[in-house]
Amino acid sequence: MELEFRLKAAFKTSADPTTAREAIENFINNDAVALLSKGAPKGEEAKIENWEIGSDRIKFTITSGRYVRAHDAMIRLRRPLAAKLGKQFHIGIRGIEVDDFTISMESEKDLGSLKIPHVSSMEYTDGKLILHLDIGESEMENRVPDRILTLMEDKIREKSYGAKGEHWDLLWQSEKKEIIFDKDPTQEMMRLGWLKRGPSRGQWIHGPQSTKLFRTFEKIVLEELLEPLGYREMIFPKLIPWEVWKRSGHAKGVYPEIYYVCPPKTRDPEYWEEVADYYKVTHEVPTKLIKEKIGEPIGGLCYAQCPPFWMFMQGETIPTDEFPIKVFDRSGTSHRYESGGIHGMERVDEFHRIEIVWLGNKQQTIEAANELHERYMHIFNEILELEWRKAWVTPWFMAQEGLEGIAEEREAGTTDYEAPLPYRGEDGEWLEFQNVSINGNKYPSGFNVKSQSGEELWSGCSGVGLERWTSVFLAQKGLNPENWPEEFRKRIGEMPEGISFL
Ligand code: SER
Ligand code: ZN
Repeated sequence: MELEFRLKAAFKTSADPTTAREAIENFINNDAVALLSKGAPKGEEAKIENWEIGSDRIKFTITSGRYVRAHDAMIRLRRPLAAKLGKQFHIGIRGIEVDDFTISMESEKDLGSLKIPHVSSMEYTDGKLILHLDIGESEMENRVPDRILTLMEDKIREKSYGAKGEHWDLLWQSEKKEIIFDKDPTQEMMRLGWLKRGPSRGQWIHGPQSTKLFRTFEKIVLEELLEPLGYREMIFPKLIPWEVWKRSGHAKGVYPEIYYVCPPKTRDPEYWEEVADYYKVTHEVPTKLIKEKIGEPIGGLCYAQCPPFWMFMQGETIPTDEFPIKVFDRSGTSHRYESGGIHGMERVDEFHRIEIVWLGNKQQTIEAANELHERYMHIFNEILELEWRKAWVTPWFMAQEGLEGIAEEREAGTTDYEAPLPYRGEDGEWLEFQNVSINGNKYPSGFNVKSQSGEELWSGCSGVGLERWTSVFLAQKGLNPENWPEEFRKRIGEMPEGISFL
């Protein structure tokens, strides 16, 4: 036995069904057998192990495997049984009452104690995990047991086979570059006063010099890539409510990394007076008190940047000749609660990114990704003269949902752009400084966007991380503009003076 559902439940009846005993027995021995085997391979049918008539109910014990699951079996029986009892005996079925519902599944390992909704307890014996479900009719109808099964199977797989780690296949690699600088660029930038740490975790305040670098990178992306390829600028929201992350899949796994947003319970000044007064008297902000006065999180700060764009498209049907649609956003910061420890500019909680998004049919989407790859190649080879490589990795949208491996659709996935940071040494980890992804039909389907042609829509996105570009460029080229590549110097012009301090 690999997997077994065992359900003890009853159909509640409007009158004592004893009078219908013979008809019920007949139903169970004939109609029910056919109903419970439909769609299941031989030997895998759901089975009525036991049945019993009470004064106001008909009780069943149903067992099953994976195919016609016990709860589906119960639902399948309901209508035909009701028809029979109604016609001949004027007895109605009033609902389903669940006495006991267990799922037993094989597992090499105990999963420990987990809090899962509608699972009242869980035990592990002899290589079997037994879940006791606390569900009613509506959960059965809403496929809650199926979702619990999928969730547990995922957890068992992860636990037994361990983390597979990120998928990584080298696609392209530039030639090696001579090392002309081997310092940590963040340290050097701080030393020269190009930027300072911001007051919040993983945050920086960029001085005129560092800002000039960012703006030059943006200008290069605009002139060499976005304008020639016909991308239009938009402004995406930066506070992301749950609704967006439910549709994008982030609601499945992004929790450890988001900065949550909670609104005040009310904007009545009187309600907040005690907070303000507390501060005025003590010069301490009463954060515990504030916590009591704010509502539940409505979502979080921008994380992946492209998801809220899709609310613009949501529910729309788009004329076929509009495709491919190409847009970008650079209107604000993204935020991630990064791992602790002190990091430089290459790992920040608040960062700046140009997010490029396109959609069209499958062909158009792949084509747009290829165009971007070509332009990026030109920028990194001819303008920034970097050492870098490209790798096919776990798609960003899967990684952000907490998944591993590669996308089901082989043509969909993420290409990471990575570069060595000489200060990390010969074997140091390369830094991912941007990506290009073909996201398959995930977004058009999640946000219900259609093409007039009826053809399936695909989309892609590419994130240009300005902190990452800066980290890579300065790590490889150093901070002295005289050592920067000619094409880059032409574009940046004069570096502005910094602000000096005594
Ligand atoms: N949205 C993509 C990501 O978060 C590209 O920026 O990686
Ligand atoms: Zn994106």
